[in-house]
Amino acid sequence: MISKDVVGRYAFGIDEIDAQHQVLFDFIGKLEAALPTSDSWVIVQQTLNDLNYWARVHFAVEESLMRLMGFPELASHNATHANFMETIARLKKQSLRKDIARDTSRFLNDWLRHHIDVVDRKYAEYFLARCKAGKAGH
Ligand SMILES: [Fe+2]
Ligand SMILES: [Fe+2]
Repeated sequence: MISKDVVGRYAFGIDEIDAQHQVLFDFIGKLEAALPTSDSWVIVQQTLNDLNYWARVHFAVEESLMRLMGFPELASHNATHANFMETIARLKKQSLRKDIARDTSRFLNDWLRHHIDVVDRKYAEYFLARCKAGKAGH
């Protein structure tokens, strides 16, 4: 299971976003925990369905936030979200034909960690810098 310490390492100090990332990590943690069991091929389908819904919600929140802030890298960030959703759809189809639990777990873990740490971090820093500048202006 992915520990809270690991999740903490990816926290930005923007509570709502950090909480949503935690939810995504929890889904992946559930899949990781199921890997050694015979249920993993069912859990992988559940995980992909959960992510298909929750990642979409999370991405919509991020995209609105970036739009509201006038974040300059909005388009390229959105493209990485769209790409992820396409991969989820492809994996969902594959998971019906064969057991892809292990590969899927590795992909989801790598993708989420990299996306949060590198891609999301850019808008988070932009957002936090603007909040700070706003406070300093008063
Ligand atoms: Fe995110
Ligand atoms: Fe993102």
